Amino acid sequence: MAFRAFWRSEKLLVGIILVCFLGSCLFSVYSLSQSDHTLDQVIGPFALPKVDLKKRLALHRTAQPKVLLKHGTSLLKHNKTVKSPEKIEEKNPVFVPHVGLIADSQQQKQNENIEELNVVEDDSNSKQGFVPRVGFDSQQINDGKADVPSAFEEKDLAPPNYNLHVFYYPWYGNPKQNGKYLHWNHNLIPHWNKQEAKKWPTGRHQPPDDVGANFYPSLGAYSSSDPAVIEHHMQQMRYAGIGVFAVSWYPQEQADNEGQPSDSLIPALMDAAQKYSLKVAFHIEPYEGRTDWSLQHSVRYIVDTYGTHPAFYRHTRNGKNLPLFYVYDSYNLPAKDWRNLLSPSGSHTIRNTAYDAIFLGLLVELKHKNEILQGGFDGFYTYFATNGFTYGSSFSNWKTLKQFADQNKMMFVPSIGPGYVDTRVRPWNGRNTRKRLNGKYYNDAFQAAFDVTPEIISVTSFNEWHEGTQVEMAVPKKVGEYAYNDYTPNSPEFYLQLTRNWSEKFKNLQ
Ligand SMILES: *[C@@H]1O[C@H](CO)[C@@H](O)[C@H](O)[C@H]1NC(C)=O
Ligand SMILES: *[C@@H]1O[C@H](CO)[C@@H](O)[C@H](O)[C@H]1NC(C)=O
Repeated sequence: MAFRAFWRSEKLLVGIILVCFLGSCLFSVYSLSQSDHTLDQVIGPFALPKVDLKKRLALHRTAQPKVLLKHGTSLLKHNKTVKSPEKIEEKNPVFVPHVGLIADSQQQKQNENIEELNVVEDDSNSKQGFVPRVGFDSQQINDGKADVPSAFEEKDLAPPNYNLHVFYYPWYGNPKQNGKYLHWNHNLIPHWNKQEAKKWPTGRHQPPDDVGANFYPSLGAYSSSDPAVIEHHMQQMRYAGIGVFAVSWYPQEQADNEGQPSDSLIPALMDAAQKYSLKVAFHIEPYEGRTDWSLQHSVRYIVDTYGTHPAFYRHTRNGKNLPLFYVYDSYNLPAKDWRNLLSPSGSHTIRNTAYDAIFLGLLVELKHKNEILQGGFDGFYTYFATNGFTYGSSFSNWKTLKQFADQNKMMFVPSIGPGYVDTRVRPWNGRNTRKRLNGKYYNDAFQAAFDVTPEIISVTSFNEWHEGTQVEMAVPKKVGEYAYNDYTPNSPEFYLQLTRNWSEKFKNLQ
């Protein structure tokens, strides 16, 4: 009898366990089926299951399934890609550049207010009194590469301001230098929501005339490894009074999915930088397998390999002259992991070792400020050039952020840019366009940064063409029905000129 009773209760137990198991299975399936929709809702990076984080990261510089157009079909011929920005805006879901985070409703509101300010670009208001010193006209670039780029002369260069940094991308390639196009032929990134994705064109751009950018570079569809291009970039930066460029960096064998490994380019970039008295900092991308451990390895590699080069950037902080690293998407590791590396008592700390450095985490959301503090970072930057979209990129939050940094003896390095537009690679993202307004947007951004008297200002970007944040020289260009944005009525180096003026003022501010 006793045995039977036991047997029965055993069965009951098994039954209960089975029911619980099936229940949780059903729940998981349900949650998964919902996840595409919840991506459109308010979700922080850590609230998401891994698969979703991956999906969102895919929005940042990673290739989507390669959908090739039929040979000979150019995207430019697809009328969808040349819709007016207003039309795109109607349809667009909320999206944060790069990471695909979703703003909360308060930010959304802020965003709407800012959009109201973004009145139609007034090109009639062209009394800039600016005489271009150099420049190319579009005749020079009809085959996708400039004729020997006309260089700035020595006398045109401005003194480098080492507290003015710019984000630099060495990922472009063309057939002449690299055997094929890299990045200029960017794919059209599908929306993460499958239903929404169906509404938008897909495919790849076809350089040299059709590039994955809303603006067209003076140097054409250039190669980042072309020595003439590198030289010209150095001159442009020095013309702008920039002192440091933070090069987008992946470990030796890695690259973003549109590019090829570019670590091998660093020596050439540093030599060129040295020639122009520029310094090189490293912007560490969220490469495959990036953890606190692998980052320690990366830092050792960078310092061991490049640390003795005279162009290697060091910044003095608390009496120490240290390398400085921008750590992109630092929030994708929890603070406790960063502490292992960045707190003096961490299990594999770099503090008080030969590899100690200034680490700047990326602040996107409000909650990141405490994570950055707890992670042991020396400070933070904001990267995005879209005022009002993320917490960190909103000028109105910078005073609070600076106070927070000061209270905790951290550095606040605001990132500013001349505007934002990425609809040639994310056709559904017109909502995040920030018009340049003949330089007004950039001037306002600089002023907002000045208002918090930062030690360093970072400019997004020198040449992130896909997101239209570049200050690099751009030329007017029309191909078929498509007219690229340009800097008219100002000259191709207008944003370098503006940077130059602010660089000078920044020196006096400090
Ligand atoms: C694009 O639109 C124009 C005018 O609306 C039309 O004439 C042209 O045939 C269209 N091109 C394609 C490829 O659909
Ligand atoms: C830069 O400053 C100079 C001198 O103040 C001024 O003449 C020039 O117009 C400014 N350039 C731009 C592009 O604003």
